Amino acid sequence: MPGSSLIRGRRILALGAGFTAAPDGPLAGAVVEQGAIAQLESLPPGACDLVLIDGDAWDAAALAQAVKALSGLRSAPPVLLVGETLPAGLVRNILRMSAADILEAPFSPEQLTAAVAALLAEAQPAPTQDAPGASRCWGVTGAVGGAGATTIAIEIAHALAVQANKDRAVCLVDLNLADGAAAAYLGAQPTTRLADFGHAADRIDAAMLHAFITPVSKGLDLMAGVRDPNAFDAVGREAVLRMLEVACECYDWVILDLPRHRRPWTLEALAGCDEALVISELTVPALLAARACSDEIEAGIGTGLRPRIVLNRLASRMFGPAPSMGEAEKALQRKAEAGISSDWEAAAASANLGGPIAQHRPKSKIVKDVQSLVQKLVAQPPRRDQPAKAA
Ligand SMILES: Nc1ncnc2c1ncn2[C@@H]1O[C@H](COP(=O)(O)OP(=O)(O)OP(=O)(O)O)[C@@H](O)[C@H]1O
Ligand SMILES: [Mg+2]
Repeated sequence: MPGSSLIRGRRILALGAGFTAAPDGPLAGAVVEQGAIAQLESLPPGACDLVLIDGDAWDAAALAQAVKALSGLRSAPPVLLVGETLPAGLVRNILRMSAADILEAPFSPEQLTAAVAALLAEAQPAPTQDAPGASRCWGVTGAVGGAGATTIAIEIAHALAVQANKDRAVCLVDLNLADGAAAAYLGAQPTTRLADFGHAADRIDAAMLHAFITPVSKGLDLMAGVRDPNAFDAVGREAVLRMLEVACECYDWVILDLPRHRRPWTLEALAGCDEALVISELTVPALLAARACSDEIEAGIGTGLRPRIVLNRLASRMFGPAPSMGEAEKALQRKAEAGISSDWEAAAASANLGGPIAQHRPKSKIVKDVQSLVQKLVAQPPRRDQPAKAA
Protein backbone atom coordinates (compact mmCIF):
# COMPACT_ATOMS: atom_id res chain seq x y z
CA MET A 1 0.00 0.00 0.00
CA PRO A 2 1.54 3.40 -0.92
CA GLY A 3 2.79 5.24 2.16
CA SER A 4 3.00 2.13 4.29
CA SER A 5 6.81 2.32 4.52
CA LEU A 6 6.41 5.71 6.22
CA ILE A 7 4.07 4.17 8.79
CA ARG A 8 6.21 1.15 9.65
CA GLY A 9 7.51 1.33 13.22
CA ARG A 10 5.77 4.65 14.00
CA ARG A 11 3.73 4.99 17.17
CA ILE A 12 0.13 6.00 16.65
CA LEU A 13 -2.17 6.90 19.52
CA ALA A 14 -5.66 5.96 18.27
CA LEU A 15 -8.52 7.56 20.15
CA GLY A 16 -11.97 6.18 19.79
CA ALA A 17 -12.02 3.97 16.77
CA GLY A 18 -11.13 0.33 16.41
CA PHE A 19 -7.97 1.11 14.42
CA THR A 20 -5.43 -1.65 14.70
CA ALA A 21 -2.10 -2.50 13.17
CA ALA A 22 -3.55 -5.64 11.54
CA PRO A 23 -1.17 -6.85 8.78
CA ASP A 24 -3.66 -6.04 6.03
CA GLY A 25 -5.16 -2.95 7.66
CA PRO A 26 -4.54 0.71 6.82
CA LEU A 27 -2.09 1.09 9.75
CA ALA A 28 -0.17 -2.14 9.08
CA GLY A 29 3.36 -2.00 10.54
CA ALA A 30 2.62 0.84 12.96
CA VAL A 31 2.67 0.46 16.73
CA VAL A 32 -0.94 1.37 17.52
CA GLU A 33 -1.97 2.20 21.06
CA GLN A 34 -5.68 2.58 21.76
CA GLY A 35 -6.50 5.37 24.15
CA ALA A 36 -9.06 7.81 25.46
CA ILE A 37 -9.48 11.45 24.55
CA ALA A 38 -8.63 12.58 28.09
CA GLN A 39 -5.05 11.35 27.54
CA LEU A 40 -4.35 14.35 25.34
CA GLU A 41 -4.48 16.64 28.35
CA SER A 42 -1.29 15.20 29.78
CA LEU A 43 0.51 13.83 26.76
CA PRO A 44 4.25 13.66 27.54
CA PRO A 45 6.58 15.01 24.83
CA GLY A 46 7.56 12.32 22.34
CA ALA A 47 4.87 9.93 23.61
CA CYS A 48 3.74 9.11 20.08
CA ASP A 49 4.37 10.11 16.46
CA LEU A 50 0.77 10.78 15.52
CA VAL A 51 -2.61 11.10 17.19
CA LEU A 52 -5.57 9.66 15.32
CA ILE A 53 -8.93 10.85 16.63
CA ASP A 54 -12.33 9.46 15.73
CA GLY A 55 -14.39 12.61 16.13
CA ASP A 56 -17.65 10.68 16.14
CA ALA A 57 -16.67 8.69 19.22
CA TRP A 58 -16.45 11.60 21.69
CA ASP A 59 -18.75 14.40 22.74
CA ALA A 60 -18.00 17.85 21.37
CA ALA A 61 -16.97 19.40 24.71
CA ALA A 62 -14.43 16.67 25.50
CA LEU A 63 -13.04 16.92 21.98
CA ALA A 64 -12.72 20.70 22.17
CA GLN A 65 -10.91 20.52 25.50
CA ALA A 66 -8.50 17.83 24.30
CA VAL A 67 -7.66 19.68 21.10
CA LYS A 68 -7.01 22.83 23.10
CA ALA A 69 -4.60 20.93 25.34
CA LEU A 70 -2.89 19.38 22.34
CA SER A 71 -2.40 22.67 20.52
CA GLY A 72 -0.84 24.13 23.66
CA LEU A 73 1.96 21.57 23.67
CA ARG A 74 5.46 22.76 22.79
CA SER A 75 5.98 19.89 20.38
CA ALA A 76 2.58 18.44 19.61
CA PRO A 77 2.54 15.33 17.44
CA PRO A 78 0.67 15.54 14.13
CA VAL A 79 -3.08 14.98 14.44
CA LEU A 80 -5.53 13.32 12.08
CA LEU A 81 -9.20 13.83 12.88
CA VAL A 82 -11.62 11.50 11.15
CA GLY A 83 -15.39 11.46 11.35
CA GLU A 84 -18.73 12.05 9.74
CA THR A 85 -20.20 14.85 11.81
CA LEU A 86 -17.36 17.12 12.90
CA PRO A 87 -18.16 20.46 14.57
CA ALA A 88 -16.86 23.37 12.46
CA GLY A 89 -15.14 25.04 15.46
CA LEU A 90 -13.23 21.88 16.22
CA VAL A 91 -12.15 21.47 12.61
CA ARG A 92 -10.93 25.07 12.57
CA ASN A 93 -8.89 24.57 15.75
CA ILE A 94 -7.37 21.34 14.47
CA LEU A 95 -6.34 22.94 11.21
CA ARG A 96 -4.61 25.76 13.08
CA MET A 97 -2.09 23.24 14.38
CA SER A 98 1.19 23.00 12.50
CA ALA A 99 0.68 19.38 11.41
CA ALA A 100 -2.94 18.28 11.24
CA ASP A 101 -5.49 17.03 8.77
CA ILE A 102 -9.16 16.05 8.55
CA LEU A 103 -10.53 12.98 6.84
CA GLU A 104 -14.24 12.93 6.27
CA ALA A 105 -16.03 9.60 6.67
CA PRO A 106 -16.72 7.43 4.81
CA PHE A 107 -13.18 6.89 3.59
CA SER A 108 -11.27 3.94 2.18
CA PRO A 109 -8.40 2.20 3.98
CA GLU A 110 -6.08 3.60 1.28
CA GLN A 111 -7.23 7.14 2.02
CA LEU A 112 -6.54 6.64 5.73
CA THR A 113 -3.07 5.23 5.02
CA ALA A 114 -2.29 8.12 2.68
CA ALA A 115 -3.44 10.77 5.18
CA VAL A 116 -1.44 9.22 8.03
CA ALA A 117 1.66 8.79 5.84
CA ALA A 118 1.47 12.41 4.60
CA LEU A 119 1.38 13.75 8.16
CA LEU A 120 4.24 11.52 9.27
CA ALA A 121 6.31 12.52 6.25
CA GLU A 122 5.76 16.19 7.07
CA ALA A 123 6.88 15.63 10.62
CA GLN A 124 10.04 13.75 9.65
CA PRO A 125 13.37 15.27 10.55
CA ALA A 126 14.56 17.65 7.88
CA PRO A 127 17.68 16.45 6.13
CA THR A 128 20.71 18.08 7.66
CA GLN A 129 22.13 20.99 5.70
CA ASP A 130 25.66 20.26 6.79
CA ALA A 131 28.04 18.18 4.79
CA PRO A 132 27.82 14.48 5.66
CA GLY A 133 30.08 13.69 8.56
CA ALA A 134 30.03 17.27 9.85
CA SER A 135 28.59 16.10 13.14
CA ARG A 136 30.79 15.65 16.16
CA CYS A 137 30.46 12.80 18.59
CA TRP A 138 31.90 12.75 22.10
CA GLY A 139 31.85 9.66 24.31
CA VAL A 140 31.73 9.97 28.11
CA THR A 141 32.44 7.07 30.44
CA GLY A 142 33.17 6.67 34.13
CA ALA A 143 36.44 5.23 35.47
CA VAL A 144 34.54 3.86 38.47
CA GLY A 145 30.83 3.61 39.27
CA GLY A 146 29.25 6.87 40.35
CA ALA A 147 32.16 9.03 39.12
CA GLY A 148 29.71 11.45 37.50
CA ALA A 149 29.71 10.35 33.84
CA THR A 150 25.96 10.79 33.41
CA THR A 151 25.94 14.14 35.20
CA ILE A 152 28.78 15.49 33.07
CA ALA A 153 27.39 14.05 29.81
CA ILE A 154 24.09 15.84 30.52
CA GLU A 155 25.78 19.16 31.34
CA ILE A 156 27.97 18.96 28.23
CA ALA A 157 24.96 18.15 26.02
CA HIS A 158 22.96 21.00 27.55
CA ALA A 159 25.82 23.49 27.16
CA LEU A 160 26.22 22.57 23.48
CA ALA A 161 22.47 22.84 22.88
CA VAL A 162 22.30 26.31 24.45
CA GLN A 163 25.26 27.39 22.37
CA ALA A 164 23.72 26.01 19.14
CA ASN A 165 20.31 27.59 19.84
CA LYS A 166 18.54 25.63 17.12
CA ASP A 167 16.40 22.53 16.91
CA ARG A 168 17.98 19.13 16.59
CA ALA A 169 21.44 20.34 17.52
CA VAL A 170 22.40 17.78 20.16
CA CYS A 171 21.38 14.20 20.81
CA LEU A 172 22.34 12.68 24.15
CA VAL A 173 22.37 8.91 23.77
CA ASP A 174 22.21 6.86 26.96
CA LEU A 175 24.01 3.65 26.06
CA ASN A 176 23.48 2.18 29.53
CA LEU A 177 20.81 0.19 27.76
CA ALA A 178 19.48 -1.78 30.72
CA ASP A 179 19.18 0.87 33.42
CA GLY A 180 20.48 4.23 32.20
CA ALA A 181 19.79 7.18 34.47
CA ALA A 182 19.97 10.08 31.99
CA ALA A 183 16.20 10.26 31.48
CA ALA A 184 15.54 10.25 35.22
CA TYR A 185 18.15 12.98 35.81
CA LEU A 186 16.51 15.08 33.12
CA GLY A 187 12.99 14.40 34.35
CA ALA A 188 12.23 13.07 30.86
CA GLN A 189 10.17 10.10 29.80
CA PRO A 190 12.30 7.52 28.00
CA THR A 191 10.38 6.41 24.94
CA THR A 192 12.78 4.01 23.31
CA ARG A 193 11.70 0.42 23.52
CA LEU A 194 15.16 -0.75 22.68
CA ALA A 195 14.05 -4.27 22.00
CA ASP A 196 12.19 -2.79 19.00
CA PHE A 197 15.57 -2.06 17.42
CA GLY A 198 16.31 -5.69 18.08
CA HIS A 199 18.83 -7.06 15.70
CA ALA A 200 17.27 -5.39 12.65
CA ALA A 201 20.00 -2.84 12.04
CA ASP A 202 19.00 -2.29 8.43
CA ARG A 203 15.58 -0.96 9.42
CA ILE A 204 16.99 1.95 11.38
CA ASP A 205 16.69 5.25 9.54
CA ALA A 206 16.15 8.90 10.44
CA ALA A 207 12.37 8.47 10.75
CA MET A 208 12.73 5.54 13.11
CA LEU A 209 15.36 7.32 15.17
CA HIS A 210 13.09 10.32 15.43
CA ALA A 211 10.31 8.10 16.71
CA PHE A 212 12.54 7.00 19.56
CA ILE A 213 13.80 10.32 20.84
CA THR A 214 12.44 12.42 23.67
CA PRO A 215 12.75 16.18 23.21
CA VAL A 216 14.25 17.69 26.37
CA SER A 217 14.74 21.37 25.57
CA LYS A 218 15.38 23.56 22.56
CA GLY A 219 18.24 21.91 20.74
CA LEU A 220 18.54 18.92 23.05
CA ASP A 221 17.00 15.51 22.36
CA LEU A 222 17.49 12.39 24.41
CA MET A 223 17.63 8.83 23.26
CA ALA A 224 17.17 6.57 26.25
CA GLY A 225 15.54 3.22 26.75
CA VAL A 226 12.94 2.27 29.25
CA ARG A 227 14.36 0.10 32.01
CA ASP A 228 14.87 -3.41 30.69
CA PRO A 229 17.26 -5.88 32.32
CA ASN A 230 17.55 -7.80 29.04
CA ALA A 231 18.27 -4.82 26.81
CA PHE A 232 21.98 -5.55 26.39
CA ASP A 233 21.11 -8.98 25.01
CA ALA A 234 18.09 -7.81 23.00
CA VAL A 235 19.93 -5.12 21.04
CA GLY A 236 22.67 -6.32 18.74
CA ARG A 237 26.00 -4.70 17.98
CA GLU A 238 24.98 -3.70 14.44
CA ALA A 239 21.77 -2.10 15.69
CA VAL A 240 23.64 0.04 18.25
CA LEU A 241 26.26 1.13 15.73
CA ARG A 242 23.67 1.85 13.03
CA MET A 243 21.64 3.88 15.53
CA LEU A 244 24.73 5.97 16.30
CA GLU A 245 25.50 6.38 12.63
CA VAL A 246 22.00 7.68 11.94
CA ALA A 247 22.16 9.96 15.00
CA CYS A 248 25.36 11.47 13.61
CA GLU A 249 23.56 12.10 10.32
CA CYS A 250 20.66 13.89 12.03
CA TYR A 251 22.40 15.97 14.73
CA ASP A 252 25.33 18.38 14.87
CA TRP A 253 26.47 16.89 18.17
CA VAL A 254 26.02 13.40 19.55
CA ILE A 255 27.01 12.85 23.18
CA LEU A 256 27.26 9.26 24.38
CA ASP A 257 26.82 8.22 28.01
CA LEU A 258 28.73 4.94 27.75
CA PRO A 259 28.50 2.04 30.20
CA ARG A 260 31.66 1.37 32.17
CA HIS A 261 31.81 -2.30 31.32
CA ARG A 262 32.82 -3.11 27.80
CA ARG A 263 30.14 -4.29 25.38
CA PRO A 264 30.64 -5.82 21.93
CA TRP A 265 30.12 -2.36 20.43
CA THR A 266 31.99 -0.16 22.93
CA LEU A 267 35.29 0.14 21.10
CA GLU A 268 33.67 0.72 17.72
CA ALA A 269 31.39 3.37 19.18
CA LEU A 270 34.43 5.09 20.70
CA ALA A 271 36.36 4.74 17.45
CA GLY A 272 33.61 6.83 15.86
CA CYS A 273 33.98 9.56 18.48
CA ASP A 274 36.26 12.52 18.11
CA GLU A 275 36.60 12.85 21.88
CA ALA A 276 36.53 10.21 24.61
CA LEU A 277 36.19 11.53 28.14
CA VAL A 278 36.99 9.32 31.11
CA ILE A 279 35.45 10.72 34.27
CA SER A 280 37.30 10.05 37.51
CA GLU A 281 37.02 11.03 41.11
CA LEU A 282 39.92 12.35 43.08
CA THR A 283 40.59 9.16 45.02
CA VAL A 284 43.56 6.89 44.47
CA PRO A 285 41.47 3.85 43.35
CA ALA A 286 39.50 5.98 40.88
CA LEU A 287 42.66 7.54 39.47
CA LEU A 288 44.26 4.13 38.98
CA ALA A 289 41.07 2.92 37.27
CA ALA A 290 41.00 6.04 35.07
CA ARG A 291 44.54 5.42 33.97
CA ALA A 292 43.81 1.77 33.17
CA CYS A 293 40.56 2.62 31.42
CA SER A 294 42.23 5.27 29.22
CA ASP A 295 45.07 2.89 28.32
CA GLU A 296 42.58 0.15 27.45
CA ILE A 297 40.54 2.46 25.20
CA GLU A 298 43.62 3.83 23.50
CA ALA A 299 45.07 0.40 22.81
CA GLY A 300 41.70 -1.16 21.99
CA ILE A 301 40.59 1.23 19.27
CA GLY A 302 44.06 1.86 17.86
CA THR A 303 43.03 4.99 15.94
CA GLY A 304 45.31 7.33 17.83
CA LEU A 305 42.41 8.70 19.88
CA ARG A 306 43.75 9.61 23.30
CA PRO A 307 41.05 9.70 25.94
CA ARG A 308 40.91 12.84 28.07
CA ILE A 309 40.60 12.40 31.81
CA VAL A 310 38.22 14.71 33.65
CA LEU A 311 38.51 14.88 37.43
CA ASN A 312 35.08 15.30 38.95
CA ARG A 313 33.95 16.52 42.37
CA LEU A 314 37.07 18.52 43.12
CA ALA A 315 36.72 19.77 46.69
CA SER A 316 38.89 21.63 49.10
CA ARG A 317 41.05 19.42 51.26
CA MET A 318 39.02 20.13 54.37
CA PHE A 319 37.28 16.74 54.07
CA GLY A 320 40.39 14.59 54.34
CA PRO A 321 43.61 13.74 52.61
CA ALA A 322 42.48 13.97 48.97
CA PRO A 323 45.25 14.06 46.38
CA SER A 324 46.01 17.44 44.82
CA MET A 325 45.67 17.89 41.07
CA GLY A 326 49.44 17.46 40.72
CA GLU A 327 49.43 14.26 42.78
CA ALA A 328 46.49 13.03 40.72
CA GLU A 329 48.37 13.61 37.49
CA LYS A 330 51.29 11.69 38.91
CA ALA A 331 49.01 8.72 39.65
CA LEU A 332 47.45 9.01 36.21
CA GLN A 333 50.83 9.32 34.53
CA ARG A 334 49.22 11.84 32.24
CA LYS A 335 47.74 15.29 32.44
CA ALA A 336 44.12 15.65 33.43
CA GLU A 337 42.13 17.55 30.85
CA ALA A 338 39.90 19.39 33.26
CA GLY A 339 38.54 19.48 36.77
CA ILE A 340 34.89 19.85 37.73
CA SER A 341 34.14 21.30 41.16
CA SER A 342 32.12 19.43 43.72
CA ASP A 343 28.69 20.85 44.47
CA TRP A 344 26.46 18.23 46.03
CA GLU A 345 23.58 20.59 46.66
CA ALA A 346 23.39 21.69 43.02
CA ALA A 347 23.80 18.15 41.66
CA ALA A 348 21.23 16.63 44.00
CA ALA A 349 18.71 19.47 43.65
CA SER A 350 18.84 19.32 39.85
CA ALA A 351 18.53 15.54 39.77
CA ASN A 352 15.54 15.78 42.11
CA LEU A 353 13.87 18.57 40.16
CA GLY A 354 14.68 16.89 36.85
CA GLY A 355 16.88 18.87 34.47
CA PRO A 356 20.46 20.02 33.94
CA ILE A 357 22.34 21.73 36.77
CA ALA A 358 22.80 24.68 34.40
CA GLN A 359 19.03 25.13 34.43
CA HIS A 360 18.33 24.75 38.14
CA ARG A 361 21.60 26.03 39.63
CA PRO A 362 23.14 28.18 36.89
CA LYS A 363 25.58 29.76 39.33
CA SER A 364 27.05 26.44 40.45
CA LYS A 365 30.78 26.02 39.87
CA ILE A 366 29.96 22.77 38.09
CA VAL A 367 28.30 24.80 35.32
CA LYS A 368 31.28 27.13 34.95
CA ASP A 369 33.73 24.23 34.89
CA VAL A 370 31.72 22.28 32.30
CA GLN A 371 31.50 25.44 30.17
CA SER A 372 35.29 25.78 30.18
CA LEU A 373 35.70 22.12 29.28
CA VAL A 374 33.21 22.43 26.43
CA GLN A 375 34.87 25.59 25.10
CA LYS A 376 38.24 23.90 25.19
CA LEU A 377 36.97 20.80 23.36
CA VAL A 378 34.90 22.74 20.82
CA ALA A 379 38.03 24.66 19.89
CA GLN A 380 39.84 21.43 19.00
CA PRO A 381 39.64 20.49 15.33
CA PRO A 382 37.36 17.44 14.84
CA ARG A 383 39.66 14.46 15.14
CA ARG A 384 37.92 12.44 12.52
CA ASP A 385 35.25 13.25 10.02
CA GLN A 386 33.30 10.03 9.84
CA PRO A 387 30.70 8.84 12.32
CA ALA A 388 30.77 5.31 13.71
CA LYS A 389 30.07 2.79 10.99
CA ALA A 390 28.38 -0.55 11.45
CA ALA A 391 30.85 -2.97 9.93
N1 LIG B 1 30.56 17.61 40.51
C1 LIG B 1 29.69 17.00 41.32
N2 LIG B 1 29.46 17.50 42.54
C2 LIG B 1 28.62 16.87 43.38
N3 LIG B 1 27.92 15.79 43.09
C3 LIG B 1 28.10 15.26 41.87
C4 LIG B 1 28.98 15.82 40.92
N4 LIG B 1 28.95 15.06 39.81
C5 LIG B 1 28.08 14.06 40.05
N5 LIG B 1 27.57 14.16 41.28
C6 LIG B 1 26.64 13.24 41.94
O1 LIG B 1 27.28 11.98 42.03
C7 LIG B 1 26.33 10.93 41.90
C8 LIG B 1 26.75 10.00 40.79
O2 LIG B 1 26.73 10.72 39.57
P1 LIG B 1 26.37 10.05 38.17
O3 LIG B 1 25.14 9.23 38.27
O4 LIG B 1 26.44 11.12 37.15
O5 LIG B 1 27.63 9.08 38.03
P2 LIG B 1 27.87 7.93 36.95
O6 LIG B 1 29.34 7.87 36.73
O7 LIG B 1 27.04 8.19 35.75
O8 LIG B 1 27.33 6.68 37.75
P3 LIG B 1 27.04 5.18 37.19
O9 LIG B 1 28.31 4.44 37.38
O10 LIG B 1 25.93 4.71 38.08
O11 LIG B 1 26.62 5.33 35.76
C9 LIG B 1 24.99 11.59 41.66
O12 LIG B 1 24.32 11.67 42.87
C10 LIG B 1 25.37 12.98 41.16
O13 LIG B 1 24.37 13.94 41.46
MG1 LIG C 1 25.73 6.89 34.75
